[in-house]
Amino acid sequence: MTTRTSEQTKTQDIKPFFLDLTEGEREDIARVFRNILTSGQLILGAYTKEFEAEFARYIGKRHGVALNTGTSALEILLMANGAAGKKVAVQSNTNFASLVTIIRAGATPVYMDMTAEYFAPNLEILKSTVERYDVHGVMWVHIGGVVAPDFPEVVEYCRKKKLFLVEDAAHAHGSEMSGIKAGAFADAGAFSFFPTKVMTTMEGGMIVTDSAEHAALARSLRNQGKRDGDYGAAGGSRRSRPTSGWSSSPSWTR
Ligand SMILES: Cc1ncc(COP(=O)(O)O)c(C=O)c1O
Repeated sequence: MTTRTSEQTKTQDIKPFFLDLTEGEREDIARVFRNILTSGQLILGAYTKEFEAEFARYIGKRHGVALNTGTSALEILLMANGAAGKKVAVQSNTNFASLVTIIRAGATPVYMDMTAEYFAPNLEILKSTVERYDVHGVMWVHIGGVVAPDFPEVVEYCRKKKLFLVEDAAHAHGSEMSGIKAGAFADAGAFSFFPTKVMTTMEGGMIVTDSAEHAALARSLRNQGKRDGDYGAAGGSRRSRPTSGWSSSPSWTR
Protein backbone atom coordinates (compact mmCIF):
# COMPACT_ATOMS: atom_id res chain seq x y z
CA MET A 1 0.00 0.00 0.00
CA THR A 2 1.33 3.44 -0.82
CA THR A 3 0.82 6.38 1.46
CA ARG A 4 0.87 9.93 0.21
CA THR A 5 2.90 12.58 1.90
CA SER A 6 1.41 16.02 2.35
CA GLU A 7 4.01 17.19 -0.20
CA GLN A 8 2.62 14.80 -2.88
CA THR A 9 -0.96 15.89 -2.33
CA LYS A 10 -0.16 19.59 -2.35
CA THR A 11 -2.37 21.26 -4.89
CA GLN A 12 -0.95 23.19 -7.75
CA ASP A 13 -1.95 26.81 -8.15
CA ILE A 14 -3.96 27.42 -11.28
CA LYS A 15 -3.64 30.87 -12.71
CA PRO A 16 -6.98 31.96 -14.15
CA PHE A 17 -7.00 32.67 -17.89
CA PHE A 18 -3.29 31.90 -18.13
CA LEU A 19 -1.75 30.96 -21.46
CA ASP A 20 1.81 29.71 -21.53
CA LEU A 21 3.07 31.12 -24.83
CA THR A 22 6.52 30.26 -26.14
CA GLU A 23 8.95 32.98 -27.17
CA GLY A 24 8.35 32.07 -30.84
CA GLU A 25 4.57 32.36 -30.44
CA ARG A 26 4.94 35.72 -28.71
CA GLU A 27 7.10 36.94 -31.61
CA ASP A 28 4.60 35.68 -34.22
CA ILE A 29 1.72 37.42 -32.46
CA ALA A 30 3.72 40.65 -32.10
CA ARG A 31 4.58 40.56 -35.83
CA VAL A 32 0.93 40.18 -36.84
CA PHE A 33 -0.12 42.87 -34.36
CA ARG A 34 2.44 45.22 -35.92
CA ASN A 35 0.88 44.59 -39.35
CA ILE A 36 -2.56 45.37 -37.97
CA LEU A 37 -1.39 48.54 -36.26
CA THR A 38 0.40 49.63 -39.43
CA SER A 39 -2.72 49.00 -41.51
CA GLY A 40 -4.71 51.25 -39.15
CA GLN A 41 -7.74 48.95 -39.42
CA LEU A 42 -7.94 47.59 -35.89
CA ILE A 43 -11.05 45.43 -36.28
CA LEU A 44 -12.90 43.68 -39.10
CA GLY A 45 -9.96 43.91 -41.49
CA ALA A 46 -8.19 41.45 -43.77
CA TYR A 47 -7.16 39.11 -40.93
CA THR A 48 -10.75 38.81 -39.68
CA LYS A 49 -12.00 38.00 -43.20
CA GLU A 50 -9.31 35.37 -43.68
CA PHE A 51 -9.98 33.85 -40.24
CA GLU A 52 -13.74 33.68 -40.91
CA ALA A 53 -13.26 31.99 -44.29
CA GLU A 54 -10.62 29.54 -43.05
CA PHE A 55 -12.48 28.61 -39.87
CA ALA A 56 -15.81 28.07 -41.68
CA ARG A 57 -14.01 25.91 -44.27
CA TYR A 58 -12.29 23.90 -41.53
CA ILE A 59 -15.58 23.25 -39.70
CA GLY A 60 -17.48 22.55 -42.92
CA LYS A 61 -19.95 25.42 -43.13
CA ARG A 62 -20.32 28.06 -45.85
CA HIS A 63 -20.16 31.19 -43.71
CA GLY A 64 -18.15 32.27 -40.69
CA VAL A 65 -18.92 35.45 -38.77
CA ALA A 66 -16.41 36.58 -36.16
CA LEU A 67 -17.79 38.23 -33.04
CA ASN A 68 -16.58 39.70 -29.77
CA THR A 69 -17.54 36.59 -27.75
CA GLY A 70 -19.09 33.13 -27.99
CA THR A 71 -21.96 34.53 -25.93
CA SER A 72 -22.78 37.01 -28.71
CA ALA A 73 -22.59 34.17 -31.25
CA LEU A 74 -25.24 32.18 -29.37
CA GLU A 75 -27.47 35.18 -28.72
CA ILE A 76 -27.45 36.23 -32.38
CA LEU A 77 -28.23 32.67 -33.54
CA LEU A 78 -31.23 32.58 -31.20
CA MET A 79 -32.43 35.94 -32.53
CA ALA A 80 -31.94 34.76 -36.11
CA ASN A 81 -34.05 31.69 -35.36
CA GLY A 82 -36.92 33.73 -33.93
CA ALA A 83 -36.56 32.45 -30.36
CA ALA A 84 -38.06 35.56 -28.73
CA GLY A 85 -41.18 34.72 -26.72
CA LYS A 86 -40.64 30.97 -27.20
CA LYS A 87 -39.16 28.09 -25.21
CA VAL A 88 -35.66 26.79 -25.94
CA ALA A 89 -34.42 23.45 -24.58
CA VAL A 90 -30.90 23.42 -23.16
CA GLN A 91 -29.01 20.99 -20.95
CA SER A 92 -28.48 22.01 -17.35
CA ASN A 93 -24.76 21.12 -17.14
CA THR A 94 -23.53 24.06 -19.15
CA ASN A 95 -21.82 27.38 -18.68
CA PHE A 96 -24.06 30.21 -17.52
CA ALA A 97 -23.36 31.87 -20.89
CA SER A 98 -25.47 29.30 -22.78
CA LEU A 99 -28.42 29.95 -20.51
CA VAL A 100 -28.11 33.71 -20.39
CA THR A 101 -28.18 33.99 -24.18
CA ILE A 102 -31.60 32.33 -24.20
CA ILE A 103 -32.90 34.83 -21.66
CA ARG A 104 -31.27 37.78 -23.46
CA ALA A 105 -32.84 36.66 -26.73
CA GLY A 106 -36.23 37.00 -25.02
CA ALA A 107 -36.87 33.26 -24.79
CA THR A 108 -37.45 30.90 -21.84
CA PRO A 109 -34.96 28.11 -21.15
CA VAL A 110 -36.27 24.60 -20.53
CA TYR A 111 -33.67 22.45 -18.82
CA MET A 112 -32.79 18.98 -20.00
CA ASP A 113 -30.93 16.35 -18.01
CA MET A 114 -27.72 14.78 -19.30
CA THR A 115 -26.20 11.31 -19.43
CA ALA A 116 -23.18 10.40 -17.31
CA GLU A 117 -21.37 8.96 -20.36
CA TYR A 118 -21.41 11.94 -22.70
CA PHE A 119 -22.30 14.93 -20.47
CA ALA A 120 -25.15 15.72 -22.86
CA PRO A 121 -28.82 14.81 -23.15
CA ASN A 122 -29.74 11.93 -25.46
CA LEU A 123 -32.53 11.48 -27.98
CA GLU A 124 -34.92 10.08 -25.34
CA ILE A 125 -34.37 13.02 -22.99
CA LEU A 126 -34.88 15.45 -25.86
CA LYS A 127 -38.04 13.69 -27.05
CA SER A 128 -39.61 13.73 -23.58
CA THR A 129 -38.76 17.45 -23.24
CA VAL A 130 -40.31 18.24 -26.62
CA GLU A 131 -43.41 16.19 -25.81
CA ARG A 132 -43.85 17.86 -22.42
CA TYR A 133 -43.06 21.47 -23.35
CA ASP A 134 -43.86 23.39 -26.49
CA VAL A 135 -40.22 24.12 -27.39
CA HIS A 136 -39.35 26.14 -30.47
CA GLY A 137 -35.72 25.11 -30.66
CA VAL A 138 -32.77 23.42 -29.00
CA MET A 139 -29.33 24.55 -27.86
CA TRP A 140 -27.07 21.52 -27.62
CA VAL A 141 -23.73 21.91 -25.85
CA HIS A 142 -20.76 19.65 -26.68
CA ILE A 143 -19.38 19.88 -23.13
CA GLY A 144 -15.64 19.29 -22.96
CA GLY A 145 -15.61 18.80 -26.73
CA VAL A 146 -17.52 15.48 -26.48
CA VAL A 147 -19.98 14.84 -29.32
CA ALA A 148 -22.62 12.35 -28.13
CA PRO A 149 -22.89 9.30 -30.43
CA ASP A 150 -26.62 9.79 -30.97
CA PHE A 151 -26.24 13.46 -31.94
CA PRO A 152 -26.87 12.74 -35.67
CA GLU A 153 -30.24 11.21 -34.64
CA VAL A 154 -30.95 14.33 -32.57
CA VAL A 155 -30.27 16.43 -35.68
CA GLU A 156 -32.63 14.27 -37.73
CA TYR A 157 -35.34 14.42 -35.07
CA CYS A 158 -35.11 18.23 -34.83
CA ARG A 159 -35.36 18.52 -38.65
CA LYS A 160 -38.43 16.29 -38.65
CA LYS A 161 -40.06 18.31 -35.86
CA LYS A 162 -38.99 21.61 -37.48
CA LEU A 163 -37.12 22.68 -34.36
CA PHE A 164 -34.08 24.88 -34.83
CA LEU A 165 -30.93 23.29 -33.43
CA VAL A 166 -27.93 25.38 -32.48
CA GLU A 167 -24.67 23.70 -31.45
CA ASP A 168 -22.87 25.43 -28.61
CA ALA A 169 -19.42 24.31 -29.69
CA ALA A 170 -17.56 26.67 -27.33
CA HIS A 171 -15.47 23.69 -26.13
CA ALA A 172 -15.41 21.70 -29.34
CA HIS A 173 -13.09 23.23 -31.96
CA GLY A 174 -11.91 20.29 -34.04
CA SER A 175 -14.04 17.61 -32.31
CA GLU A 176 -15.44 15.30 -34.94
CA MET A 177 -17.50 12.16 -35.40
CA SER A 178 -17.81 10.14 -38.63
CA GLY A 179 -15.88 12.85 -40.46
CA ILE A 180 -18.24 15.66 -39.39
CA LYS A 181 -16.95 18.42 -37.15
CA ALA A 182 -18.80 19.82 -34.14
CA GLY A 183 -20.58 22.94 -35.37
CA ALA A 184 -21.34 21.37 -38.75
CA PHE A 185 -23.98 18.79 -37.76
CA ALA A 186 -26.93 21.10 -37.17
CA ASP A 187 -28.25 24.44 -38.46
CA ALA A 188 -25.41 26.49 -37.01
CA GLY A 189 -22.54 26.38 -34.55
CA ALA A 190 -21.25 28.92 -32.05
CA PHE A 191 -17.61 28.91 -30.96
CA SER A 192 -15.73 30.78 -28.23
CA PHE A 193 -12.10 31.89 -28.42
CA PHE A 194 -11.82 32.86 -24.74
CA PRO A 195 -8.36 32.08 -23.28
CA THR A 196 -9.58 28.91 -21.53
CA LYS A 197 -10.84 27.40 -24.80
CA VAL A 198 -9.21 25.03 -27.31
CA MET A 199 -8.03 27.99 -29.37
CA THR A 200 -8.01 31.63 -28.42
CA THR A 201 -8.08 35.11 -29.86
CA MET A 202 -8.00 36.49 -26.26
CA GLU A 203 -11.72 37.36 -26.41
CA GLY A 204 -13.71 36.27 -29.42
CA GLY A 205 -16.46 34.13 -30.88
CA MET A 206 -17.62 32.80 -34.24
CA ILE A 207 -20.85 31.74 -35.87
CA VAL A 208 -20.62 29.09 -38.57
CA THR A 209 -23.68 28.55 -40.72
CA ASP A 210 -24.81 27.62 -44.22
CA SER A 211 -27.47 30.33 -44.10
CA ALA A 212 -26.42 33.44 -46.04
CA GLU A 213 -29.36 35.25 -44.45
CA HIS A 214 -28.28 34.46 -40.88
CA ALA A 215 -24.66 35.31 -41.67
CA ALA A 216 -25.72 38.71 -43.07
CA LEU A 217 -27.87 39.35 -39.99
CA ALA A 218 -24.94 38.49 -37.70
CA ARG A 219 -22.60 40.80 -39.67
CA SER A 220 -25.13 43.57 -39.33
CA LEU A 221 -25.80 43.03 -35.60
CA ARG A 222 -22.09 43.01 -34.76
CA ASN A 223 -21.95 46.49 -36.26
CA GLN A 224 -24.90 48.29 -34.67
CA GLY A 225 -27.39 47.02 -37.21
CA LYS A 226 -25.72 48.47 -40.27
CA ARG A 227 -25.73 46.69 -43.58
CA ASP A 228 -22.84 44.30 -44.20
CA GLY A 229 -19.78 46.21 -45.39
CA ASP A 230 -21.13 49.56 -44.24
CA TYR A 231 -18.55 50.33 -41.59
CA GLY A 232 -18.92 54.08 -41.48
CA ALA A 233 -15.32 54.40 -42.64
CA ALA A 234 -14.01 56.28 -45.64
CA GLY A 235 -13.63 54.45 -48.93
CA GLY A 236 -16.56 52.65 -50.45
CA SER A 237 -19.17 53.25 -47.80
CA ARG A 238 -22.25 55.42 -47.89
CA ARG A 239 -21.04 57.29 -44.81
CA SER A 240 -17.70 58.95 -44.74
CA ARG A 241 -15.62 59.72 -41.75
CA PRO A 242 -14.94 63.41 -41.04
CA THR A 243 -11.34 64.26 -41.91
CA SER A 244 -10.72 66.31 -38.77
CA GLY A 245 -11.87 66.27 -35.18
CA TRP A 246 -12.68 62.55 -35.47
CA SER A 247 -11.98 60.32 -32.51
CA SER A 248 -14.60 57.62 -32.72
CA SER A 249 -17.93 57.26 -34.37
CA PRO A 250 -20.94 55.52 -32.82
CA SER A 251 -20.60 52.84 -35.47
CA TRP A 252 -17.30 51.67 -33.97
CA THR A 253 -18.12 51.83 -30.31
CA ARG A 254 -19.48 48.91 -28.30
C1 LIG B 1 -20.37 26.06 -23.04
C2 LIG B 1 -20.08 27.51 -23.23
N1 LIG B 1 -20.87 28.24 -24.04
C3 LIG B 1 -20.63 29.54 -24.27
C4 LIG B 1 -19.58 30.20 -23.68
C5 LIG B 1 -19.39 31.67 -23.92
O1 LIG B 1 -18.19 32.00 -24.57
P1 LIG B 1 -17.52 33.42 -24.33
O2 LIG B 1 -16.80 33.37 -23.02
O3 LIG B 1 -16.57 33.57 -25.49
O4 LIG B 1 -18.59 34.44 -24.35
C6 LIG B 1 -18.73 29.49 -22.83
C7 LIG B 1 -17.59 30.19 -22.23
O5 LIG B 1 -16.99 29.98 -21.30
C8 LIG B 1 -18.98 28.11 -22.59
O6 LIG B 1 -18.21 27.38 -21.78
